[in-house]
Formats: sequence, structure tokens, C-alpha cells
Amino acid sequence: MASVRFLGHAAFEVSMGGKRILIDPFLTGNPMAAAKPAELKPDYIVVTHGHSDHLGDTVDIALRTGATVIAPYEVALYCDKKGAKIHPMHVGGAYTFDFGVLRLTPAFHGSDILEGDTLIPGGNPSGVIIEAEGKTLYHAGDTGIFGDMKLIGELYKPDVALLPIGGNFTMNIKDAAYATKLLKPKVAIPMHYNTFDLIKADPEEFAQLVEPPTQVVILKPGDSYSF
Ligand code: NI
Ligand code: MN
Repeated sequence: MASVRFLGHAAFEVSMGGKRILIDPFLTGNPMAAAKPAELKPDYIVVTHGHSDHLGDTVDIALRTGATVIAPYEVALYCDKKGAKIHPMHVGGAYTFDFGVLRLTPAFHGSDILEGDTLIPGGNPSGVIIEAEGKTLYHAGDTGIFGDMKLIGELYKPDVALLPIGGNFTMNIKDAAYATKLLKPKVAIPMHYNTFDLIKADPEEFAQLVEPPTQVVILKPGDSYSF
């Protein structure tokens, strides 16, 4: 059975194809975090882009567990330099892992990595699609709405779409609701809201704007959804 556990903000622990895949594990310093980094034992860690609220605890968890970091090339290389095992990819590319097929999708955003006072170029940001067990999960990463979400919907037919709704840095509620018309997922799960004042949003309002056949599932940090 495929499942996702919401760990707060844009962090999810995905169980698909018999493996545990962490996405964007920002836990230390995340007021909504539902787990401590030391509690997690992923096989893989996917990082959609280099911002600290996504890269988060990736390197620490990877070094402790030996998990492979899957990320766009520049972010993967940054993790490699820190000693992590990596699998670099890039937007549009797919690879068959031991759990299933994972591909990176476009995202309209930034990806630079802030280290101390230095901003390290992080290449292009991404979203991610995981196909395993006959199920498809889409994590949009941080992004504004874009028309090719329709293409993602047509090509990959996501069962579950994890969509940012907090606005300011990403889509807001209205844009994310429209995005579900393009992606046509069976289920949309809102993320990237209420972690900070700048991204306050009401997920119930999002749920009201989304039209059938897409159903909205609101997860509290720590909650899981099986599909
Ligand atoms: Ni970001
Ligand atoms: Mn973010």
C-alpha cells in the first residue's frame, strides 16, 4: 500500500514500492515539524530545490542513515560535497529505482542555497513524480501555477498531488485550486502554508474551491494518507 505522512511545511515521508522516501525534510527550525530528524530512517531523500525550508536536515539524515539523496544536479552535488550518497537528476529526467520510477518536473521558483552569508547557485528548482505499485504521487515543490501542469496531468495522471497553497512564495489557494483542474488528481493535499506568517492560508477554503472529481484531503502534521 502506498502512503504519505505529512511532517509539516513541504516535508513528507512517502512509503511506495517497499521503500521509505523522504521529501524536503525541513524539520529543525520548522515550527510545524511532526518528527525529529533522528526518528527517521529513509532509504532515499528527495530534495526539490536548495532553499533551507526544503534542503533542511537532508545532509544530517543522509550521513546518519546512508540514504541516497535524489535532487536536481546542483543541489545533489552540494550534498555530495558534504559527504552524502547522491543520485543527481534534472528536470524532465526519469530513472527507474528499486521502488519505482521517479522523475523531476518543472517548478517556477528559485533554488539557491544559503550557507552562512554566502548564496550558492542551486540550479533550477523542481517538482517530483513517483510512480510505484501502480500509483502516482506528485509533489509540486515550490512553484507558481503554470500551464504545463495540464501536461503533467495528461502524461502521468497523479493519484495524489501535494500542492503548495500558502501564497507569497508559491501558488495561493485560488491558484492551487485552479491547478487541480489542470492536474486532475484524484486527491489534492495542501502543503507549504501556516508555517510562517507570510504564508498563512486556510486549507478549508482551498477544499471549498476545489471541484469534483478531485477530492481534498487536509493532513495535520503527523497525519498519514494511504492510497
Ligand atoms: Ni523555496
Ligand atoms: Mn519553500
